[in-house]
Amino acid sequence: RESADCQVKAEAHANIALVKYWGKRSLEKNLAATGSISLTLDALKTETEIRIDSSFQKDYFELDGKPVSGEGLKRISDFLDIIVGTEERDRAYITSKNSFPTAAGLASSASGFAALTIAAAKVWNKPTDRSILSSLARRGSGSAARSIFGGFVEMKSGKDLSGSEDYAATLYGKDYWDLRVVIGITDATPKKIGSTEGMERSRKTAPYYDSWITSTEQDLEGMRDALAKRDFTQMGELAEHSALKMHGLAMSARPAILYWNAATLESIHKIRDLRKRGIEAYITIDAGPQIKVLCKPADIEDVQQALTSVTGLQKVITSGIGDDAKVTEVKK
Ligand code: PMV
Repeated sequence: RESADCQVKAEAHANIALVKYWGKRSLEKNLAATGSISLTLDALKTETEIRIDSSFQKDYFELDGKPVSGEGLKRISDFLDIIVGTEERDRAYITSKNSFPTAAGLASSASGFAALTIAAAKVWNKPTDRSILSSLARRGSGSAARSIFGGFVEMKSGKDLSGSEDYAATLYGKDYWDLRVVIGITDATPKKIGSTEGMERSRKTAPYYDSWITSTEQDLEGMRDALAKRDFTQMGELAEHSALKMHGLAMSARPAILYWNAATLESIHKIRDLRKRGIEAYITIDAGPQIKVLCKPADIEDVQQALTSVTGLQKVITSGIGDDAKVTEVKK
């Protein structure tokens, strides 16, 4: 046996990429084709509890109060095998709760796999080195590697297929720059095309894929520079560019991948109108129809109002910058 009976709770926050990750160089080890830079979001949190008891016969996983079976459960079990390093491990009873709609392009896989990694590493007495934890989280979902850390985070993409260089690190802590992200939920149902499928289809069929990869390298440099200078305009323009470029790439795939709905598009226009009125705010969108707006604290109300006026917009969540993922409770 690898462990004694115990119970561990951990939490992690979702993140929003300022320079997007969209494309893999290896499916097997889940290695990204490029690096990415993100902001950890304090308002979007996952709390996960793992219990192990030598009498459990199989893994059990519950998300937001509902038991998950089939492929969803298998993905969790396979991930635990990777973390523990063997399939001959104690079975786990896992409950996970999101403070936001699951699987709707709000990066629930990022905070979910980050929280699960932190909790499982504690349960099975695995190394606590945070780059190792980040590499492990990557095996669950690429963006989860970034959610191990708080603040402004960079995910590296290594040169070979070993994965030894593919982990994230904090560039600047959460108090470095007081930014806000206003999130507009336009549709809380699960997304239609998962990120792995979307990335693979883009890699195989999108005519702009190669220029996406080369230009993302330049965007990473520009973003590091913008963050170092705390230059809001440079950061925002580049973040919006990276997001629209990623969606343009996905739209150019065959069959085309279109994550937006009418409210997403109306939100983009509303934020552009705000900019014309001198309020600096920039949009970003992940693999779903939700809109995220980067703004300064003084402009939160204007941004919230602009989003609230969008037809069909369901909910607005305002977030600051989140902290590192961490263990919150241990009972052995
Ligand atoms: O971590 P994944 O496999 O869910 O992919 C993340 C993809 C995007 O959210 C669209 C971009 C990113 O860098 O977070």
